[in-house]
Amino acid sequence: MGDAATLVERARAALSARDAAQAIHDLLRETIASAAPRELRRRLLGTEAAERMGGIPRFGQHVLVDSPELTMFHATLPPGFVNAPHDHRTWAVVAVYEGEERNVFYRRRDGSITPTSALVASAPCVVAMREDAIHAIENRLETPSYALHAYGNAHFHVARSMWHPDTLVEHPRDDALFGSWCRDMIARGVRLPADAG
Ligand SMILES: [Fe+2]
Repeated sequence: MGDAATLVERARAALSARDAAQAIHDLLRETIASAAPRELRRRLLGTEAAERMGGIPRFGQHVLVDSPELTMFHATLPPGFVNAPHDHRTWAVVAVYEGEERNVFYRRRDGSITPTSALVASAPCVVAMREDAIHAIENRLETPSYALHAYGNAHFHVARSMWHPDTLVEHPRDDALFGSWCRDMIARGVRLPADAG
């Protein structure tokens, strides 16, 4: 497994598999097993970007591919990171290679959503989500978490939903508003709900 371009090339090829989500799952599992975390960051982000991560990094998405049928990015979650419930409208595969992403899953109920389960994805761990999944994530660790995220659509451009973290009212996805919700949650030290069902 080589650099980011090779990974993207292999991921594009995986899309033609009968079960594209499973093929991407297998590819990302192989990728995160192929090197130690620091080396993986160097390969995926390039030496300069990886070395800038010497201290505690900020939240970051380093986009590897942004296309109609495939989006992949490298995600850095600083300690205390949390986001609001949202959907993806396609399959999603998340490969955590250092740290953890705690997921809380929700389902629609009575015009809103309710938490149904939680899943702590501790590195090394690959999580696959169905296209109807609604979730939020957080990093409860005192160290950053690093993962590869892949989606079978134009994740940054398609119409999706997000739910206000306090009211759980559904909104059309708006990246600027979503970002402001998340910054506010982090500033207030909001934690996602405990496992519920
Ligand atoms: Fe997500």
